[in-house]
Amino acid sequence: MNDLPRVCVVGYGVAGRLHHRLLEAAGLRVCTVDPALTGVPVGAHSRRAIEHSPAVRDMPGPVNLWSLCTPTQVHTDVLAEVLERDPRARVIMEKPACRAQDVPRLLALLERYPEARVVVMNQYRHAHALRLLDDLRRQHMPDQPVTAVRVAFSKDRRADMAAGRFIDRDHGVFGYEWPHMLAVASRLLPPDTYRGYVEGPVQDVHGVVHDDYFVTTARERAVLADGVELELYSSVVGDPPGDTGAPDWTRPFRHSTGGRRRLAQIQTGPALFTAEMDPVALPDGGRLPANTHRLTAQLPTGCQEVLVNDSPMDNALRTAVARLLGDLPLPPVDLTPVHRISALAARFGRDRATAAAAGQLSGGAV
Ligand SMILES: NC(=O)c1ccc[n+]([C@@H]2O[C@H](COP(=O)([O-])OP(=O)(O)OC[C@H]3O[C@@H](n4cnc5c(N)ncnc54)[C@H](O)[C@@H]3O)[C@@H](O)[C@H]2O)c1
Repeated sequence: MNDLPRVCVVGYGVAGRLHHRLLEAAGLRVCTVDPALTGVPVGAHSRRAIEHSPAVRDMPGPVNLWSLCTPTQVHTDVLAEVLERDPRARVIMEKPACRAQDVPRLLALLERYPEARVVVMNQYRHAHALRLLDDLRRQHMPDQPVTAVRVAFSKDRRADMAAGRFIDRDHGVFGYEWPHMLAVASRLLPPDTYRGYVEGPVQDVHGVVHDDYFVTTARERAVLADGVELELYSSVVGDPPGDTGAPDWTRPFRHSTGGRRRLAQIQTGPALFTAEMDPVALPDGGRLPANTHRLTAQLPTGCQEVLVNDSPMDNALRTAVARLLGDLPLPPVDLTPVHRISALAARFGRDRATAAAAGQLSGGAV
């Protein structure tokens, strides 16, 4: 057993526990670092106690792989601690890689430790359901151009935030599901069109600000190359029934557990192709089994539905482990999502946000 690679999950909160479960299932030995850990964590499958430590430097023994799941604002500090301990460390970083103000320090670390190997999580790049959605489009509308791509990822984080879960006050709503939505857009748009969007200026964004949580809901629209329309919408305070902020196209789709609703839609001429990503709500209030996504093709001739079972996070973690433990060259860390979410958050400057918030969630549209 002891020759299995050993992975240290740093930051044992919601993301850290998920990484623990999936990495253990992928055959790695798991240990954890978290200064706030109370009690002994146990293996997700073995239920045996696992090693834990309050600091990276104190974790005994060799570590083959690191998985950084701390709050975003300390990602770069923790990466520095890991690389100081092991200049050749192999590291998975949760998204977003860091804050925009940390980018120079992150790049300096990568330059100072050229033998380090780093992968940033981007699980929706690994979602088979999105590839199948695009296959459906090609099958039914092979000769029609895509006219619009729409993505909406919402969840209600209010109870979690009140209970002490990490709050992204640097990016607000853009720091949680938005990087996932960018990954979805990058899967559904032609590569050059996506690059033109993500590296281009912000065209149109509206949102709601809260005096503590910063932006809690936002809707971005852009017209891209060849007139393709892109729309991204996210809320971290749920979409109350009748909410006027949620785009009309999201309304036919129900919210699932925790106020989650994760939608990706392609419009092609008269046809609509929609992926409802896990967790998918059922009309009786239940949900489809875990990791089951529903694809719907609304065609002039009728409607077709397909269910796909697939875990994007599991795919992404297993791919990252294989790449990091191998020695093929890795692509450079992609920091375009960090720049994009930072540019979007900058449109809701702190002073403006505070003035508009006027108390609770009734903050002004920007
Ligand atoms: N890929 C995904 O689907 C996904 C899902 C959730 C969160 N995330 C990302 O994961 C990160 C963590 O989010 P979360 O929701 O799990 O937060 P969380 O608040 O649930 O957990 C963060 C944990 O990190 C610990 N921590 C804080 N500072 C630390 C340090 N210096 N060293 C070690 N541990 C430290 C905290 O004690 C806490 O237990 C964020 O960057 C978030 O964007 C990604």
